[in-house]
Amino acid sequence: MKVSGQHFRTIWLKPENECVVQLIDQRFLPHRFVIEEVSTVEQMATAIREMHVRGAGLIGASAGYGMYLATIEAAARPAVAGFDPYVASAAAQLKATRPTAVNLSCAIERQLKNIRQGKSAEEKIALALRTARLIAEEDAEHCRLIGQHGLKLIQQIARKKAGKPVNVLTHCNAGWLAFVDHGSATAPIYAAHDSGLPVHVWVAETRPRNQGSKLTAWELGEHGVPHTVIADSAAGHLMQHGQVDLVVVGTDRTTYTGDVANKIGTYLKALAAKDNNIPFYVALPSSSFDWNMRDGLKEIPIEERGAEELKHADGWLEGRQVELRVMPQGSPAANYGFDVTPRHLVTGLITERGVCEANEKSIRALFPEQAP
Ligand code: MRU
Repeated sequence: MKVSGQHFRTIWLKPENECVVQLIDQRFLPHRFVIEEVSTVEQMATAIREMHVRGAGLIGASAGYGMYLATIEAAARPAVAGFDPYVASAAAQLKATRPTAVNLSCAIERQLKNIRQGKSAEEKIALALRTARLIAEEDAEHCRLIGQHGLKLIQQIARKKAGKPVNVLTHCNAGWLAFVDHGSATAPIYAAHDSGLPVHVWVAETRPRNQGSKLTAWELGEHGVPHTVIADSAAGHLMQHGQVDLVVVGTDRTTYTGDVANKIGTYLKALAAKDNNIPFYVALPSSSFDWNMRDGLKEIPIEERGAEELKHADGWLEGRQVELRVMPQGSPAANYGFDVTPRHLVTGLITERGVCEANEKSIRALFPEQAP
């Protein structure tokens, strides 16, 4: 996607030195556009844990590149016998960074399987590089295809609106910043906008880290898509008053039965959508399905982050980013990162292979190779 007219992805290899990964450091958006250089596994683990990079697809792509860096580090160690154990411990380090997005462990397992095929350190590095690139390419392409399939849903609604904008509500950031390019929930929106359909997006701010008001609003603004930021708690009111035609959100992990884990607050939006008869879609590349989990509520690990994120808010003041405490010093705070929306509240899933219902039969019909 474009930043000030220039095409960017969220992560790439440094052209002059392919042992270095470059990524957009999202902690500074929307105020500053900062590119970080990462050249060790340790740095990549920090970037994922501290959310320099975030969002399911991008976490997976970052882990893929992290594993490539692990092979370079392993080869630089004196004992050749230590190569595989070194890579295995790097995998464990990267896996421990964030628990909810399934893309993280999938990318790491895929890398481990492929690296194992190499007979020498050089071969292993080459395989890891190829796999990292593939994970990133697939992510971008799958999101592009999600855009094409989701576009048809927006077109159907647009036909009934006689030229008035289609109002889409989204939560958190399942935009291109959460992936390598295009985004999942935003891909149909960009496709609609680019095809000349009038579309307007309600962007839920998404406390406590404000991925909506900081990242989604910035992305949409850069692409020229009309949008309005709302407080998280305003979504139900808008739905009751006919201001929302469609809800599209992303997901960090969706079970093969259709239960959807996404940023905290998604479930309440799904409930409000159901009560108001508004279609509630989840857009996801197949890399965000968990083919081993049946019951989302019981099985999906929900990340709890530090209370500091809730106790403070940050913003831009006189040319610098500042942090302020927004609650009493002594009050305890609990910071749950995700919730699970049960499948019966989900109208459909938009994937790279098309749209399906949020149930096992319909999901497996689109992905028959995942038969148990
Ligand atoms: O904590 P984050 O920002 O990594 O959370 C992930 C998300 O951005 C959302 O849950 C998103 O809607 C799904 S990831 C494409």
